[in-house]
Amino acid sequence: MGSWLGRHAICFARKGFEVSAVDISGYGISHLLSWAEAENLPVKAVTGDMLHLPYPDNCFDCIFAYHVISHSDTQGVETIISEIERVLKRDGEIFLSFCSKESTDYLEKGAEKIDGNTVVCRKEPEAGVAHFYADTADIIRLLHNFTITKIRHTEYFPLDLQTKQTIKYYYVNAVFSP
Ligand SMILES: C[S@@+](CC[C@H](N)C(=O)[O-])C[C@H]1O[C@@H](n2cnc3c(N)ncnc32)[C@H](O)[C@@H]1O
Repeated sequence: MGSWLGRHAICFARKGFEVSAVDISGYGISHLLSWAEAENLPVKAVTGDMLHLPYPDNCFDCIFAYHVISHSDTQGVETIISEIERVLKRDGEIFLSFCSKESTDYLEKGAEKIDGNTVVCRKEPEAGVAHFYADTADIIRLLHNFTITKIRHTEYFPLDLQTKQTIKYYYVNAVFSP
């Protein structure tokens, strides 16, 4: 989900997984389909919105979405999680990432917050785009129908070490157990 150019979709297809990819960007989906064709990999990819996933109920064993679901506000993220629950089979696995509330973009004084978790990005290339930030309590609340098996909290360091910017993400593994 949120496959963009398709690096994860191609990686899983190369390993022999049956892969379906969705992204709101037609450019990303075209790129992924061309890449899959060039490698003769049977990837299915469609343009679609994660708030209304273009799939039937109970059809996936696993959903992988790193750096994707945070592109929304609190209400949107709740809708996305309910869509994931709809299309995932019971005992299915999710691999999600969340922007961390310990990041400068969330903490800085001038941040334009549209709800308690959501900041409107001021920097290009995502100026004007809402980003949802979480802490572990938020993640546990959002994933209350899942058994969380692992949470990693990772800090990214800009290569320009002069930049005083903290960028952190949570990476979450969980099993659907309603
Ligand atoms: C930061 S990129 C991450 C791409 C990919 N997961 C990766 O790690 O390489 C975020 C992706 O989410 C997609 N996206 C944003 N909003 C979306 C939505 N409402 N529905 C589906 N995809 C969306 C964007 O088009 C973009 O491809």
